[in-house]
Amino acid sequence: MTLDVVKARKETPGCSRVLHFNNAGASLIPTPVIEAVNAHFKLETEIGGYEAEDLAQKTIHQFYEAAAKLIHCSPKEIAYLENATRAWDMVFYALSFKPGDRILTAKAEYASNYIAFLQVAKKTGAVIDVIPDDEHGQLSLSAMEKMINPQVKLIAITHIPTQGGLINPAEAVGSIAKKHGIFYLLDATQSVGQLPIDVEKIQCDALCATGRKYLRGPRGTGFLYVRKSKISQLEPPFLDLHAAPWVSLNKYQISENATRFETWERNYSNMIGLATAIEYATSWGMVNIWQKICSLSTLLRSKLSSIPGVVVRDLGENKCGIVTFTIEGKEAAAVSQALRQKGINTSVSLAEYARLDLEERGLSSLIRSSVHYYNTEEEIERFCQAIQQEL
Ligand SMILES: Cc1ncc(COP(=O)(O)O)c(C=O)c1O
Repeated sequence: MTLDVVKARKETPGCSRVLHFNNAGASLIPTPVIEAVNAHFKLETEIGGYEAEDLAQKTIHQFYEAAAKLIHCSPKEIAYLENATRAWDMVFYALSFKPGDRILTAKAEYASNYIAFLQVAKKTGAVIDVIPDDEHGQLSLSAMEKMINPQVKLIAITHIPTQGGLINPAEAVGSIAKKHGIFYLLDATQSVGQLPIDVEKIQCDALCATGRKYLRGPRGTGFLYVRKSKISQLEPPFLDLHAAPWVSLNKYQISENATRFETWERNYSNMIGLATAIEYATSWGMVNIWQKICSLSTLLRSKLSSIPGVVVRDLGENKCGIVTFTIEGKEAAAVSQALRQKGINTSVSLAEYARLDLEERGLSSLIRSSVHYYNTEEEIERFCQAIQQEL
């Protein structure tokens, strides 16, 4: 099935203002999401925040249904959080480590996750072990399997990194983790909303997602999935009266489902916006979205590669909608700024966002262009012309 790009663009007001290749940063928000957020905020201003929440109960609950449907789990395995980092943290910091316990991660790991590993390693004596890449630049499954021993307590990897087109083999990692009974935490921040995600196929124990990137939701939204059988084993690092009601003076009773990872207070307009964004993505069909992203990013990679002086830097056997490149003799930040002046949005990936990967490749920064299904071939043409003007 081909995706109706004309309709998608009509429902994306930002398309008339900018050429947006910064979907890995934050996507342009579609009209139904804008309307849902504005309507709830307006209601709050008119009748009061708590009263608006009461009226919106059905829509609020739809968030859990929609997120569960998107990644193939039960609504009770979903927690709403304000971003992917906090979602990931709530699980990571609930795990306990002792000296000599090992955390396996991969080269593509996101900075904030690695910083958390460093902090916990410093406090507990746990050890971080980085799985080497294979010949495609993705994590090597055979190397990973060889690294496993009884001290490995956690496998935590990033599915699609912030800094490139790579897709790590999340499902194959899941099979190995399952076989050895090791907790598997997946950072799916860049993949949820970009490609079909099925937590049963991936076999991860926990996964984090964000709203503003490929899901096209509002900023400051995200969610967490935790497998039902693992929830009771994880006491979150922070609890409040929503996560664990205060049932008697010296006792709290922690929620049995993933809401134990949540906080009571949240921005309901944005939460409703995220629910709407997930339903909107589902209405296009994740397979259709993914096919369109792949066809656009393949075209973009090939056109950029044909420009002398431009080097496409994406790793991996299969690649996604994130296209990173450098231009000989040019600073990534300067190029991105110059493009911005022309109404073209990209972003810059710095080594400090992914040191394991970019330092090893000797790259201090990359220009990151990331496409979504509402982008067009004509935009790719215009983008490449603009890049040529920068040379
Ligand atoms: C791979 C990856 N993980 C985690 C994050 C952090 O997501 P958030 O800003 O929603 O916490 C990002 C953000 O760019 C990311 O690309």
